[in-house]
Amino acid sequence: MCVTVTMRVGLVFLWSALLPLSCSGQDPFAWLHGPQGLRYGSLKADTTGGACPDECDCPPSFPVAMYCDGRGLTAMPSIPSRMKYVYLQNNAIKAVSDSALVNATNLVWLMIHYNQLTSDAIGEKAFLHLKGLERLYLQHNNLTAFPPNLPRTLRDLRINHNKIEKVTLADLEGMDNLTILYLHDNAVTDTGTSLKALKSLTLLEISGNKLTKVPEAFPEHLHQLYMESNSIDSLPEGFLGQFTQLQYVRMAHNQLTDKGIPANIFNVTGLVELDLSFNKLERIPPVSTKLQHLYLQANQIKEFTLGSFCSAVDVTNFSELLTLRLDGNQIGPQDIPTDSSLCLRLTSSIEV
Ligand SMILES: *[C@@H]1O[C@H](CO)[C@@H](O)[C@H](O)[C@H]1NC(C)=O
Ligand SMILES: *[C@@H]1O[C@H](CO)[C@@H](O)[C@H](O)[C@H]1NC(C)=O
Ligand SMILES: *[C@@H]1O[C@H](CO)[C@@H](O)[C@H](O)[C@H]1NC(C)=O
Ligand SMILES: *[C@@H]1O[C@H](CO)[C@@H](O)[C@H](O)[C@H]1NC(C)=O
Ligand SMILES: *[C@@H]1O[C@H](CO)[C@@H](O)[C@H](O)[C@H]1NC(C)=O
Repeated sequence: MCVTVTMRVGLVFLWSALLPLSCSGQDPFAWLHGPQGLRYGSLKADTTGGACPDECDCPPSFPVAMYCDGRGLTAMPSIPSRMKYVYLQNNAIKAVSDSALVNATNLVWLMIHYNQLTSDAIGEKAFLHLKGLERLYLQHNNLTAFPPNLPRTLRDLRINHNKIEKVTLADLEGMDNLTILYLHDNAVTDTGTSLKALKSLTLLEISGNKLTKVPEAFPEHLHQLYMESNSIDSLPEGFLGQFTQLQYVRMAHNQLTDKGIPANIFNVTGLVELDLSFNKLERIPPVSTKLQHLYLQANQIKEFTLGSFCSAVDVTNFSELLTLRLDGNQIGPQDIPTDSSLCLRLTSSIEV
C-alpha cells in the first residue's frame, strides 16, 4: 500500500520508515507532493555524515532512513553516520566486514534479512560500533552461529531460518531489553543457560529446531513460548509453574508421551492456549478451568476424561474452554459423556 498524501506529516514519517519504497507502478515519492510535502520535498538532500550511496534511496524528507532493499547488492553499501533506519533485505550480500558499519553508530534498525551472510564472513567487530541498535533482522541467511558482539541494546532480534546449531551465554548475556527472539527453523540442539539471561523476553519462537529436551533455563517473563516441530519427549517437573505471565504454549509436532509429562504440569492458571497436537499422548492431561483453547489432535488418546477439565462440577465450577480439538485420536463422538456439557459449557464444538 502506498501512503496517501492526506496523512499527517508525523504519520508519513513513520510510515516511510516502515515501508520499503516499492509501490510498483506508482511514484514512490507521491506522498511528498501534497500541501505539506512541498515544504519537505524542496529540502536539499542531507549529506551530513556522508552522501547517500548511489545504489540506495534516502528520502530528503526523512534523512535518517536509507532504502537499499531488493537491488541485487552483493556487498554492504557505505552507511552515512546520520542513518537510523537501514533497509538491506532481499539482496545477495555475503559479508559484513569489521569496517562495514564503522560510521553507522546511530543505527536503531538494521534490516538485512534474505541475504547470503555466512558466519565466517561477519567480522568479529562488525556490530561493535552500534551503540543504540534496537531491531536487527538477520533471518533467511546462511549463519551457523550468532554474530559476535551483538549490541546489548537490542529489543527485537530475528535470526530464524539460518543454520544455527548452538546458542551460547556469550551470544545473549546482558540483552536486558530483548523482548522478541525469533530462532525458529535453525538446527539448534542446545541453548545451555543462555536464555535465562533475557530478563525482558516475552516471545520466544524456537520451533523447527533439533531440541530433544526443553532448554534448561528460561526467562521468567515469557508470554508466548513456541517450541513446535522439535523432538522433545518429556518435560521437567514444574515446567510451566515457573512462568507467571505465560499465556500461549505451542508444542505441536514433538514426541511427548504420558510418561514424559509430570502430573498436573499443564494445570496452571494464566494459560490461554495450549497446543499439544501431533504428539504421542494417550490421555488428556489435566488443565486449568481458565484455559480457552486446547489442541490435542493427532495423538493416541483412547479415552475422554472429563476430570481433565473439571475436577468437580457444580453451578460455579466449570471449564472456560472455547476450543477443543481431539480429532485424529482413537476416540469418537460416542466416547463423549452426555454430562460433558455441564463442565464444558462454553465449548462451541468438540472435534473428534
Ligand atoms: C566512514 O567515514 C569515513 C569519513 O567520512 C569515510 O572515509 C569512510 O569511507 C566511511 N566508511 C564506510 C564503511 O562507510
Ligand atoms: C546459502 O544457502 C543456500 C541454500 O542452502 C545456498 O543455495 C547458497 O549457495 C548459500 N550461500 C552461501 C553464500 O553459502
Ligand atoms: C534498556 O532500556 C533502558 C530504558 O530505555 C535503558 O536505560 C537501558 O540502558 C537499556 N539496557 C540496555 C542493556 O541497553
Ligand atoms: C488444577 O489445580 C487446582 C488447584 O491448583 C485443582 O483444584 C484442580 O482440581 C486441578 N484441575 C484438574 C483438572 O486436575
Ligand atoms: C470448585 O471446586 C473446587 C474443587 O472441588 C472447590 O474447592 C471449590 O470450593 C469449588 N468452588 C466453588 C465456587 O464452588
